[in-house]
Amino acid sequence: MKSNRNSEDPSSNRKGGTPFWEKMKPKAPSRPAARPASPEKRSSQRHAPEKGWDQVAQWYDQLVGDEGSDYHKNVIVPAVMKRLEPCLEGARVIDVCCGQGFVGKLLRQAGAARVHGVDASPQLISAAQKRNAADDKLTYEVADACQLGAWANGSYDVALCLMAVHDVPDLTGLFQNIARSLGDRGRALFVFMHPCFRMPKHSHWGWDAEQKIQYRRMDRYGSEAKIEITTHPGRKSSEHTIFYHRPLPSYVTSLSAAGLAITGCEELFSHRRSQVGPRSKAEHFAAEEFPMFLLWELRKCPALQ
Ligand SMILES: C[S@@+](CC[C@H](N)C(=O)[O-])C[C@H]1O[C@@H](n2cnc3c(N)ncnc32)[C@H](O)[C@@H]1O
Repeated sequence: MKSNRNSEDPSSNRKGGTPFWEKMKPKAPSRPAARPASPEKRSSQRHAPEKGWDQVAQWYDQLVGDEGSDYHKNVIVPAVMKRLEPCLEGARVIDVCCGQGFVGKLLRQAGAARVHGVDASPQLISAAQKRNAADDKLTYEVADACQLGAWANGSYDVALCLMAVHDVPDLTGLFQNIARSLGDRGRALFVFMHPCFRMPKHSHWGWDAEQKIQYRRMDRYGSEAKIEITTHPGRKSSEHTIFYHRPLPSYVTSLSAAGLAITGCEELFSHRRSQVGPRSKAEHFAAEEFPMFLLWELRKCPALQ
């Protein structure tokens, strides 16, 4: 007999540790979005920045705090720092979709000369400014990262975009602006939910009792989808954010259109492990086999521009 758990972490039903995107339950069944629009059509579309993160800004600011969420601290930031540390000394960094800006302080401690954060949520930018008021080399602005802005000016050595590419409606616009923000030798680093294994509402852990295997189930993958996620499922409030699922070719097509080439790739795994129990061996194995996040390092590629 097989059973499914609607969870992103094999241990989450045993240890009480649930990632924040999993606490935000999908609200309604999603419909596949149309295949990506042609570049001509896309460039004429104007996307209003989603208001979702402004509605949930207070909750997100508290969740992430000064040092990042559990996953930031244990998985995302260590992987990012390992890649960036050799090139951070004196670097000018743009933190795109910076949220409440916790990572800026860490980048400064690691040697960055200055860090500028942009985010569509005025409340999260206000939280970032408050948290980092003591350092005048940490600056922030409200901006829709999919629209051309003054920050996309070729003056940055490093562009960082953490846990946000799946939050923006216009991937090519985002990537083009990130490419424009970088100098010729600049590099970008993205970390995001691994689209092959994590898709809110459509990916689950399951248990095969016969074979004693914890398996990962993807109910769909190959078409783009816009998934509405309710922040506090138990409450009456309508706070929600939008998660844009895209299969890998959508990412690579948009990167190429923006003149960015992938030069490094890592799959990041959950650090969480279940408590000892009859399934724990299989759960640990699954946690080490199915990645949670995808990290890409990118460079501007003249051949693509
Ligand atoms: C999951 S949060 C990640 C924030 C931060 N990078 C972190 O790791 O804590 C996603 C962020 O993307 C921002 N965002 C979504 N759409 C955006 C857009 N079009 N332009 C700028 N920021 C956007 C949201 O406001 C939110 O702060």
